[in-house]
Amino acid sequence: MQRSGCFHNSIKCSYSNLIHYLQRISKIVTDDHDQKGCRDKYIDIWYMLIMKWHIIVNIIIHFIITLNCHGNKQFFTGILFANGDSWKEMRRFALTNLRDFGMGKKGSEERILEEIPYLIEVFEKHEGKAFDTTQPVIYAVSNIISAIVYGRRFEYTDPLFTGMADRANESIHLTGSASIQMYNMFPWLGPWINDLTRLKKNIADSKMVVTELVRGLKETLNPQMCRGFVDSFLVRKQTLEESGNLDSFYHDDNLVFSVANLFGAGTDTTGTTLRWGLLLMAKYPHIQDQVQEEISRVIGSRQPLVENRKNLPYTDAVIHETQRLANIVPMAVPHTTSRDVTFQGYFIKKGTSVIPLLTSVLQDDSEWESPRTFNPSHFLDEQGLFVKMDAFMAFSAGRRVCLGEGLARMELFLFFTSLLQHFCFSPPTGVTEEDLDLTPAVGFTLNPSPHQLCAIYLSIYLSIYLSIYLSIYLSIYLSIYLSIYLSIYL
Ligand code: HEM
Repeated sequence: MQRSGCFHNSIKCSYSNLIHYLQRISKIVTDDHDQKGCRDKYIDIWYMLIMKWHIIVNIIIHFIITLNCHGNKQFFTGILFANGDSWKEMRRFALTNLRDFGMGKKGSEERILEEIPYLIEVFEKHEGKAFDTTQPVIYAVSNIISAIVYGRRFEYTDPLFTGMADRANESIHLTGSASIQMYNMFPWLGPWINDLTRLKKNIADSKMVVTELVRGLKETLNPQMCRGFVDSFLVRKQTLEESGNLDSFYHDDNLVFSVANLFGAGTDTTGTTLRWGLLLMAKYPHIQDQVQEEISRVIGSRQPLVENRKNLPYTDAVIHETQRLANIVPMAVPHTTSRDVTFQGYFIKKGTSVIPLLTSVLQDDSEWESPRTFNPSHFLDEQGLFVKMDAFMAFSAGRRVCLGEGLARMELFLFFTSLLQHFCFSPPTGVTEEDLDLTPAVGFTLNPSPHQLCAIYLSIYLSIYLSIYLSIYLSIYLSIYLSIYLSIYL
């Protein structure tokens, strides 16, 4: 299965059949070659579409397709939109490096733990007043990728860094905008579409910044001490060149676009999920109370660690349920069949774009008790223990499954528990919990609609709670005392 180049066709199937087919067809050995001449031995047809009108509209307008077809060839480099041998090599290299510089080993946990106090400090500075959580959360998660890719974190006030993170965030919104979608259908409209100009400028600016950062790392490169993904890539490139291989996949475009892909795919997704989590906590305070009770009982005031996850089943269930309901990448990323295939009686021609509709599994009526409500019990058994669900496919499946799943899961757990350990989240003054809107904003990923939250520091929250409690207690006590006194002496 390759990344898609354009939209041709669509297929309808149910989730139960899908799982069946997932198992059956996930590894069909073929001798075919894909369109770009790259050998692709397997076809991953895992799940398809449940067609609904609003989804059809979205599919037709899927953003990157036209940018790919009418845009520049560099999009096909890197990981996210690459295919064939280059993709295989870049994906394998990225996974190894994520493991070495972050994912899997202690490294990533330490990097996240190092970032948490910075995020808490920003939240604390708002002193319980309402604020938009977007920027601090995006900066915090962006710093985790920065540490893995560049070997360092950035200050939240560094304009180079904030520019990078803000641009990535804006691009995600632009790609889902109506005008870009129109452009996808009618590319000749391009010159009149301002969002397209803006999007192209964002991409060019990001490329410039990445190139500049890479240049700085090149100048200070020490092959004995790789600081992150970029160093590792440069060392591999150097080694291959020294051995006479000047035509490898380790070229500048693959470096810049792999870095950009890791940022693009790793920042908005994790940040958005975390923001959904905080919004849901403010909307459902009884669930927030249970999470905080569990954290306080199991961890107390110690820093939460990944090893604590198994002892925090309710919190883990809340995080999974947030991902399930928020469904932030509803259509994953388009794929293309690399050979003709018949699937559930439907003939799918080689080169057909297939869009894995994650909504069809994450909100399948036959898999979830209440698919469209926030219900952490979906991931809990009768004893309150965490249960894994096969239909939980927020990271997609198959050979193109999210490359950062392990890292994302670790980030979500550590950031979420640490924030909930320190703050109580509530709607701004004058806004009720019912008023908090869960309608997603349109974009390539589904973000919460613009909103503000109050993050009340728990010690303040506790003292307010205690003073209210004490004053109620004292007034009851005084009134009883007064009535006894009056009944005796009057
Ligand atoms: C909550 C967080 C995340 C979610 C929900 C998510 C989800 C996804 C999904 C649905 C895909 C498309 C899979 C497909 O094509 O079928 C994907 C791909 C990808 N993700 Fe993630 N992701 C998350 C975090 C991350 C992080 C932290 C990183 C970076 C380390 C990352 C890097 C990637 C890359 C590079 C791909 C492309 C993989 C390929 O084409 O081979 N993601 N992700």
